Amino acid sequence: MDDLLEAARDAAEAAYAPYSEYRVGAAIETADGTVYTGCNVENANYSNSLHAEEVAVGTAVSEGHHSFARLAVSSAKRDGVTPCGMCRQTLSEFCDEDFRILTEGDGGEGPTEYTLGELLPTTITKEHVDP
Ligand code: THU
Ligand code: ZN
Repeated sequence: MDDLLEAARDAAEAAYAPYSEYRVGAAIETADGTVYTGCNVENANYSNSLHAEEVAVGTAVSEGHHSFARLAVSSAKRDGVTPCGMCRQTLSEFCDEDFRILTEGDGGEGPTEYTLGELLPTTITKEHVDP
C-alpha cells in the first residue's frame, strides 16, 4: 500500500458526512515531501459541503505550499473514486498536466494512477484571466 493512499484512507475516517454517508479522504504531497490531508465536511444546507481534496489543498496552501507532487484520494467504500470536476479544477490552479493522482481502484485492488491531464484535458487557467 502506498503511504500517500494510506494517509488518504486514514483521513476518510474523520469525514463528517451525515447526509450522504459517503466518506472521502485525500492526501496531498508537497514538492518538499510534506503531506497534508483532508476529509469531506458536509453541511445541513448541502451546498456548503467541502470536498476532501479541497480541504487538503486548502490546508497545504494555508501553510504556504503552492507546489505539489502527488494527490491520493480514497472513499470508505473503496470504489476507486476520483476527484470531481470541481476538485480537478482546484488542483489545476497549482498543478500541471503531469501531476499524479492515486486512487484505490474499483474494489480497492489499486492503486490506480491517473494524471491531472487525463482527468481534466482542458480547463481555464490563470493565463486565460490574465488582464
Ligand atoms: N466528495 C468529495 O469529498 N470529493 C470529491 O471529489 C467527490 C465528492 C464528497 C462530497 C460529499 O460530501 C460526498 O462526497 C458525496 O458527494
Ligand atoms: Zn470534489
